[in-house]
Amino acid sequence: MDIIVSTILYSMALVPVTLSIAFVLLLLKTFTGKSIQSSKYPPVRGTVFVQLVHFNQLYDYMTGLVRRSTTFRLLAPDQSEIFTADPRNVEHILKTDFEKYTKGKYDIDIMKDLFGEGIFVVNGEKWKKQRKVASFEFATSVLRDFSCCVFRKNAVKLVKIVEELSAASEGFDMQDILMRCTLDSIFKVGFGVELNCLEGSSKEGRAFMKAFDEASALTYWRYVDPTWALKRLLNIGSEARLRNNIKLIDNFVHQLIKIKRNQLAAWREPNDKEDILSRFLLECEKDPMNINEKYLRDIILNFIIAGKDTSANTLSWFLYMLCKHPLVQQKIVDEIRDVIGDQASEANPDEFVERITDPVLHRMHYLHATLTETLRLYPAVPLDGRCAEIDDVLPDGFHVKRGDNVNYLAYSMGRVHNIWGEDAEDFKPERWLKDGIFQNESPFKFVAFHAGPRICLGKDFAYRQMKIVSIALLRFFRFRLANETRPVTYKVMFTLHINNGLPLRAVPRLAK
Ligand code: HEM
Ligand SMILES: *[C@@H]1O[C@H](CO)[C@@H](O)[C@H](O)[C@H]1NC(C)=O
Repeated sequence: MDIIVSTILYSMALVPVTLSIAFVLLLLKTFTGKSIQSSKYPPVRGTVFVQLVHFNQLYDYMTGLVRRSTTFRLLAPDQSEIFTADPRNVEHILKTDFEKYTKGKYDIDIMKDLFGEGIFVVNGEKWKKQRKVASFEFATSVLRDFSCCVFRKNAVKLVKIVEELSAASEGFDMQDILMRCTLDSIFKVGFGVELNCLEGSSKEGRAFMKAFDEASALTYWRYVDPTWALKRLLNIGSEARLRNNIKLIDNFVHQLIKIKRNQLAAWREPNDKEDILSRFLLECEKDPMNINEKYLRDIILNFIIAGKDTSANTLSWFLYMLCKHPLVQQKIVDEIRDVIGDQASEANPDEFVERITDPVLHRMHYLHATLTETLRLYPAVPLDGRCAEIDDVLPDGFHVKRGDNVNYLAYSMGRVHNIWGEDAEDFKPERWLKDGIFQNESPFKFVAFHAGPRICLGKDFAYRQMKIVSIALLRFFRFRLANETRPVTYKVMFTLHINNGLPLRAVPRLAK
C-alpha cells in the first residue's frame, strides 16, 4: 500500500520535473547555433513565443519592432524566423532569387490536411503546372465577361438584402454578408454552381461554409499550438474537430465534382466552358493519371481560400474606412454619378447594375484608389513568407541560414514612414492619384497581392468584384457604424478578418 502511494506521489513529482527539463532543452535548442551575437545576422528581438504573448495585436507589435529595425529575428527551436519590411528584401525573396525561397516544410505540414496539393501549398513542377492552367483561364475574356455577369447578379441580391436589413432599427454584420456574397460568386465563377449562401436558401451551402471557416481557423491554430501534431495522432480536441470538418468539406466537394462531370458529359462542346473547374476537368481527361479526384478537390479548396476571405475582408475594411471618412464616401458616390449617370430608371437595382460595364470600371479611378488605399493599411494577407533553401545574404546585408523563414510584413510596410512618408498611417486615397488618374506603385512596396512569379492570379478578378459590389452598395445606401464607440480590430488568422464582424447601419440614398 505504502509503496503504491509513494510511487504515485513520486510520479506526480516527476511530471513537473520532466516538463521543466523539456522546457530547458527547448530553450537551449532555441538559443544555440543561431549566431545570436553576430551583427551579420538580423538583430534578435526574442523567441517566437513572444507572438503568443502579443497574439491579439500581433501585427501592431511587429510594426513596433520594425520601427526599431526594419529587419529582425525571432528564435524558434529549429530555425530563425526573420521578419522584414524592406522592399529590397521583398523583391529579393519573391522575384530575384525566387528559386532559393520556397514554401517551407513547416508551412506545408500545417496546411496540407485542408489544402492538399493545391496551388498555395506546392513548389516546383507541381506549382508550375497548376499556375499554367489557372493563368490561362484567368487571362480569357470568357472569364472576364462571365465573372462580370455573376458579380452584377450577386450585387443585386446584396442590395436587396441590405435594403431589408436597413428597415430594422438595429445594425447588421456586414462582414458576414460580404463573406456569403464572395463565396457565392467564387462558386458560380469557379465551379459553375449556385451555392445560394447569401439568400440562405441552401442548407448544404451554409453547412459547407461553416465547416470551411472552422477548418481554416483550426488550421491556423496549429501555428500557435505546439501540441497539434500529437493531438492529430490521437484525434482529440481541436484536431478531432478539424478532421470532422474536413470530412464534411470533402463530401461536399466530391459531390460537386460528380455533378460537373455529368454536366460536362451531357454538353460535349469544349469551347463554351465558362468556369475554372470545367477547364481543369478537361485537362483531367487529357491526363487522367496525374489529375484525379483528389487533385480536383485540392484545386477547388485553394480557389475558395484564395477568393472568399480576401475579397470579403477587404470590402469590410473598405466600408469601415468609408464610415470613418464620410468625405471619401461622398467622393465615391460623386464618381458613380459622374461615370455611370443618374437616371430615373436606375432606381431599380437590376437596371442599374446593367450599366456597370468593364469600361465603366476602368474609369473609376477614385474608387480604385480607395480600395488600394484600404489594402495598403489593411492587407488581406498581413504577413507572408518563404523558407530559405540555402544560406544567403539579403540586399540589406543581413545573412540568412538555410531553413530560416524570411517573412515580409505587409501590414507593417503600409505604416512605416520611410516607405510612404510622414502620413503613412493616414487613410488618403489621393496618394494614389495624379491629375485624377490612378498611379501604380512598385509591387515590392505595395505587396498586398504578393509579387514576382507567384503574384496573386486573382488581382483583376478581385478588383472587378470589389468595384461592382461597392458601386451597387454605395449607389443605394449611405453607411454608418452601428456603434461609433465600439473598437474595431482584426482577428489574427490567415487573412485579416475584422474581429467579431462589422455591425453597420444602412440608410437608403434615394426614396424609391
Ligand atoms: C483583395 C483580394 C486578394 C488579395 C489581397 C490577394 C492576395 C494574394 C496573396 C498575398 C497571394 C500570395 C500567397 C502566397 O503564395 O503566399 C495570393 C496568391 C494567389 N491568389 Fe490572391 N488575393 C486576392 C484575391 C484573389 C482572388 C479573388 C483569387 C481567385 C479567384 C485569387 C487567386 C490567387 C491564387 C490562385 C494565388 C496563388 C498564386 C501562386 O501561388 O502562383 N486571389 N493572393
Ligand atoms: C457601443 O460599444 C461600447 C464599447 O464596446 C459599449 O460599451 C456600448 O454598450 C455599445 N453601445 C450599444 C448601443 O450597443
